[in-house]
Amino acid sequence: MNRVFTYLAVLMIILITATGCQKDPPLQFPYELSLPPHFPEPEIPEENQLTESRVALGKKLFYDPVLSLDSTISCATCHPQATGFADDLMISTGIQGRMGFRNVPTLTNVAYHPYFFREGGNPSLEGQVLGPICSFDEFGFNARELADRLSGDTLYDAMAMDAYKRPMDLYVITRAIAAFERTLISGNAPYDQFILGDSTALSPIAQQGMNLFFSERTACATCHEGFDFSNYAFENIGLYETYQDLGRFRITLDSADIGKIKVPTLRNVALTAPYMHDGSLPSLEAVIDHFDTGGVQHPNQSSDVKPLHLSQTEKDALLAFLQSLTDEEFIHNPNFSK
Ligand code: HEC
Ligand code: HEC
Repeated sequence: MNRVFTYLAVLMIILITATGCQKDPPLQFPYELSLPPHFPEPEIPEENQLTESRVALGKKLFYDPVLSLDSTISCATCHPQATGFADDLMISTGIQGRMGFRNVPTLTNVAYHPYFFREGGNPSLEGQVLGPICSFDEFGFNARELADRLSGDTLYDAMAMDAYKRPMDLYVITRAIAAFERTLISGNAPYDQFILGDSTALSPIAQQGMNLFFSERTACATCHEGFDFSNYAFENIGLYETYQDLGRFRITLDSADIGKIKVPTLRNVALTAPYMHDGSLPSLEAVIDHFDTGGVQHPNQSSDVKPLHLSQTEKDALLAFLQSLTDEEFIHNPNFSK
């Protein structure tokens, strides 16, 4: 009887630790997020509070090509810091040059997103990590084999014990990378310095662009609103009459959602060309022209995207404003570098 009980108890412990519901060990060395004064606190899951050791482990994993099947690419290959954690390709390429089907989004301020991917198909940053690992056209790997590959590594095992009190496994890989990603906070662009009181931080033309951006006339800020320039809603902006990538429809199967894409942040946007979910617009000038002409009038198109009849000076002003969202400190911050 006792043996059965012990067996059951052991089984319970394995199950509980494997699903990650165990009581969190006391946090050593909490990681202090350095938040700009006008940013809210991001929501961080109770079971994955930030600590120095978790973030350090996540950063090491983020930059380690060992995560891909043939050990050739890492998360940072497609999400490099110098271009705001997005790449400069139209469509991403994974191992062996395999083509993905979407443009790489920036990871700037990803801690604040309520869901991930362009159609919002993934509810958590921890869960999202499995996406690239298992995607054929990204790391082309298998989560269990990856965990096996890393669990023999003494340095990783030691870091995992330190961070999560368990050896290297999938639980640790997904939690640690998510922890690192949550530290990628950007809010010190010239625009921020301006709204925090430095009236010299924006040129007069960028200020004119800012006023246009926040005006009812352009309605840019109805979707690109708040400190992160996104309401995270799904919108069709009339890029195509027929969308190849069906966007939000892929999740809901509701035809009213065809062509709806999660509103992207505009922070560091000058660094992340080309633009849109498929990288089809090569420059910010082309994006401004798109919004100026008002799109192709797709049936699902938002009524906030309509012909604007901007003058050339107004287009230049909007461009100068978008360029003022580049945060040099963020892309050079050694805490985020390899
Ligand atoms: C081969 C290129 C490639 C690699 C490697 C890659 N990503 Fe991505 N990533 C993408 C693309 C493309 C998307 C957009 C996918 C979509 O919307 O369906 C994306 C989306 C994301 C998102 C969602 C962002 C948002 O706005 O919703 C996160 C977070 C992310 N990647 C993190 C990672 C992490 C962490 C790794 C490493 C484990 C990684 N990526 C590896 C190309 C890549
Ligand atoms: C109805 C909501 C909405 C309005 C209004 C809107 N946008 Fe957007 N914007 C989006 C969505 C959604 C995308 C992504 C579309 C895609 O990927 O296909 C986007 C993409 C962009 C991009 C490209 C970002 C990237 O990383 O690819 C820029 C730049 C941009 N918008 C600027 C503006 C400006 C400037 C205005 C005003 C003239 C504006 N937007 C008005 C919803 C909107």
